[in-house]
Amino acid sequence: MVHLHIRTLAAASALVLSVSVFAMGARPKADDEGANKRIAPIARVELTAAAPAAAGSRSGEQIYKAICGACHEAGVAGAPKTGDKAAWAPRVALGLDGLMKSAIAGKNAMPPRGGSDANDVELARAIVYIANKSGASFKEPAAK
Ligand code: HEC
Repeated sequence: MVHLHIRTLAAASALVLSVSVFAMGARPKADDEGANKRIAPIARVELTAAAPAAAGSRSGEQIYKAICGACHEAGVAGAPKTGDKAAWAPRVALGLDGLMKSAIAGKNAMPPRGGSDANDVELARAIVYIANKSGASFKEPAAK
């Protein structure tokens, strides 16, 4: 139990780290905007993809990579590993609504919303992202 607790703390600080890196992520400054206009549309697409998106507009993959992967990628603190179909099968059986309920409330070592600031649509997208890599075929929710 103590061991689990330490691992949870480690995961939590990794989480804070990735969250702050995400928050500090390059939002284009005035200069960048100018550069943006001067360079080819292809390069602008890349810059746009790298900039933090407005709340509610992040993809499941973005939320996963910034937050959820800290635990689910390696199976930290008892988290079902992404891609582990056996571990996910009974959870997938709860349906997207059931998984939304436990993700919103938090479950055992998982904090509410997985510790993220994702809104409901983003959280659902992140769940669809994890679950569909783990045997589910949930449909991505439409944008709000
Ligand atoms: C701090 C570690 C941690 C983070 C970060 C985390 N999870 Fe989890 N997650 C867990 C653990 C542990 C469980 C297993 C809980 C249990 O069943 O005991 C879990 C379970 C789940 C489940 C299954 C819930 C169920 O009812 O069985 C879903 C869905 C899920 N996580 C989604 C997410 C999403 C989406 C994110 C990112 C927004 C996320 N998690 C971030 C630790 C984490």
